[in-house]
Amino acid sequence: MAIVHVTRELPGDALQRIPAAGHKLVVHPGTMPPTPAELRRVAADADALITTLADRVNAELLDAAPRLKVVANYAVGTDNIDVQAAHRRDIAVGVTPDVLTDATADLAMTLLLAVARQVPVAARAVIDGAWKTWDPSGYLGLGLRDARLLIVGAGRIGRATGERAAAFGMQVTYAGRDDDLLALLPDADVVSLHVPLSPQTRRLIGETELAAMKPGALLVNTARGGLVDQDALVEALERGHLGGAGLDVMTPEPLPPHDPLLALPNVLVLPHIGSATVAARHRMTELAVENVLAALDGDPLPNPAKG
Ligand code: DGY
Repeated sequence: MAIVHVTRELPGDALQRIPAAGHKLVVHPGTMPPTPAELRRVAADADALITTLADRVNAELLDAAPRLKVVANYAVGTDNIDVQAAHRRDIAVGVTPDVLTDATADLAMTLLLAVARQVPVAARAVIDGAWKTWDPSGYLGLGLRDARLLIVGAGRIGRATGERAAAFGMQVTYAGRDDDLLALLPDADVVSLHVPLSPQTRRLIGETELAAMKPGALLVNTARGGLVDQDALVEALERGHLGGAGLDVMTPEPLPPHDPLLALPNVLVLPHIGSATVAARHRMTELAVENVLAALDGDPLPNPAKG
């Protein structure tokens, strides 16, 4: 009987397929992820781990897991996992692609629409009692028709976001891996990030890239906080070079309560909810379980991580 440790309770009932297949299922209790020490402890007897992006799976953890055959990440991203270190130890790594594409693209549009129309500023005015009358010149935002959207990353989620934006009349351009990002940034009214976090993409949007953006442009990030130099972003927002930012991801997550991002006017910060629809999260559980069961049967993973 294999032992499968899951670092969080997961939505849906697919986890029950693990005991139904004759394996022992152990779910980390509570609403917080295990500490690194707790994770090391459970890894010691685990044949399979289902992890989330809050769990760091590095070489040290893998060395503490002599029986481990598979790490099934409950995410499409793998930046929390040293995939190469796992592969060197013959440990498979699985991900949950496709099933969260629509949910994440919907959220990118939610952020885009919100910051384009000054929703964070307007909603705050209502709550603070600063809304005194209908104002012909108040809260004027960006109309999406004919506005230019630059999607950085032409993968599944980037394309799905582009399709949605095109339906709003936006002119959509994609920046792929081989394109000159600095040359594309100055034309965009909105820049939306959709690339995985890797050593090559860390701080892809830094001081130089922010300075290259059009004055008043908006930044949307539903990918990973590490793609952006956050100090440079705060600075660009504070001096009014950027017109706003919609961030579902940031560094660290969660932000400390007094982080300057939280005090900026046209900035909407969400708690990393890109894939948080009932359907997407249930399907993510199914995909993670399918990765585990395949590995325990000695089969290739249906959804392996690249790398
Ligand atoms: C992912 O899948 O990588 C998201 O960030 C969480 O769903």
